[in-house]
Amino acid sequence: MTKLLGISGSLRKASYNTALLRAAQGLVPPDVELELVTLHGIPLYDGDLEQAEGIPEAVTALKQKVLACHGLLIATPEYNNGMPGVLKNALDWLSRPPKESASVFGDRAVALLGATPGGMGTVSAQAAWLPVLKALGVRTWSGGRLLASRAGQLFDDQGALSDETMRKQLQVFVAGFAAFAVRPA
Ligand code: FNR
Repeated sequence: MTKLLGISGSLRKASYNTALLRAAQGLVPPDVELELVTLHGIPLYDGDLEQAEGIPEAVTALKQKVLACHGLLIATPEYNNGMPGVLKNALDWLSRPPKESASVFGDRAVALLGATPGGMGTVSAQAAWLPVLKALGVRTWSGGRLLASRAGQLFDDQGALSDETMRKQLQVFVAGFAAFAVRPA
């Protein structure tokens, strides 16, 4: 079984990015499992907090899930042409302490996808992530692109992905990434 972990970079209940990952859960190949997490409960990174209390429980719990997966599917919203602080903050916490960062991120397969009501499909946010992922030492998948533009027209009132073209794209994207995630580095 290939285990993927989907991290949504939005805390909103009605988030398009979370909805995109939820849709992906229903489109994975039969030998692939996609668990979905949001970042509620992760505090802002604070070196004083880290020194006084260590790694927060919510971060440790997320770290365990990352360690247990073959690949990370990161659904990134785009804020002001970059990545949201909520998501960057979580990855910064996950990279602590430095001696554990290589086991969490080193050679871990990562794919980016994103949804926006705008017309550019989070292309700038996804590009902004690349140097960060390089710094973390992950194996970034570049075999596919998933840019969900005009998200308001892709989902129905219940948040289900109703656009058939995007459903097919997402299915191919997840299958391609899952195969990459278990391929030897
Ligand atoms: C945005 N949004 C946005 N969208 C975009 O395509 N490019 C951008 O640069 C920005 N900038 C931006 C800044 C800030 C502060 C906010 C709050 C929003 C709109 C954004 O894509 C939209 O709110 C999405 O719905 C956010 O993703 P979720 O929460 O639906 O997953």
